[in-house]
Amino acid sequence: MTDAADVADAADAADAADVADVAATIDLTKPAAGPAEIVRAEKVKVRFGRTDVLCGIDLTVRAGEVCCLIGPSGSGKTTFLRCVNHLQRISAGRLWVSGELVGYRQRGERLYELKESEVARRRAGIGMVFQRFNLFPHLTVLGNVVEAPIRVRRERKAEVRERAMDLLGRVGMASFADAYPGRLSGGQQQRVAIARALAMRPELMLFDEPTSALDPELVGDILDIMRGLAADGMTMLVVTHEIGFARDVADQIVFMDGGAVVEHGPPAAVLDDPSHERTRSFLSKVR
Ligand SMILES: Nc1ncnc2c1ncn2[C@@H]1O[C@H](COP(=O)(O)OP(=O)(O)O)[C@@H](O)[C@H]1O
Ligand SMILES: [Mg+2]
Repeated sequence: MTDAADVADAADAADAADVADVAATIDLTKPAAGPAEIVRAEKVKVRFGRTDVLCGIDLTVRAGEVCCLIGPSGSGKTTFLRCVNHLQRISAGRLWVSGELVGYRQRGERLYELKESEVARRRAGIGMVFQRFNLFPHLTVLGNVVEAPIRVRRERKAEVRERAMDLLGRVGMASFADAYPGRLSGGQQQRVAIARALAMRPELMLFDEPTSALDPELVGDILDIMRGLAADGMTMLVVTHEIGFARDVADQIVFMDGGAVVEHGPPAAVLDDPSHERTRSFLSKVR
């Protein structure tokens, strides 16, 4: 082993104490998720103070699948997406994305917390689209789309620009490449936000209520773009209240309430013939 690796190990060992609480809940003798599982959550908990906001989420999303998360406000949907995207540390359980433990590296029987740079590298493989579009206001539309591939991935500018223009064409925004976000409608900004996420060629796209801040007449365009992505085989985890979209596009619907998965299954089961009263009650309110 090289000296550099020894130094890294020493730094890792110093971090190891921090992860004892999580490590204690992880059975390292079990194999990690297979390659077909893009997201695998086992008994994932998140605790804020004394409250369990996630009380043990089990969920699997396979490559090419669309999983729609539905549930009332405060049920933990956003918190779960934040765990998948390495923005929220889990308190217990285990969570893999693309076969890698989120936030940790396993060597033998031990877990080491990842350095921030490694967390950022892994996060860059996941596209995230928020309710609020979060575009950089000081960059043009094209500037927003090329920024991460050039700055984070250090890809060649000409290649990235070409890809960005393709993506902007795909979301119907090529003619706005030089515009600033402030001049665009919410629907246009969200289309740019989707192109920006796709520019990193993500393995997984997370959407957190991508249409709920939009005027009703703009919702359809965004859902159509998402349908197109699903048809192209993108793996997607989507928090949405658009039940019609979920029925058409989802392979799996997960209904959450109170930080737990109440039920999950194909749309026909969960949406049309739910087993739980809580699911029925929620659906009667959003339809
Ligand atoms: N940083 C935080 N600190 C404390 N409580 C939080 C924090 N973030 C979220 N919560 C709480 O966690 C619960 C779930 O929130 P969230 O994941 O946003 O739900 P949803 O997206 O389903 O509406 C809510 O009760 C919320 O108040
Ligand atoms: Mg939310």
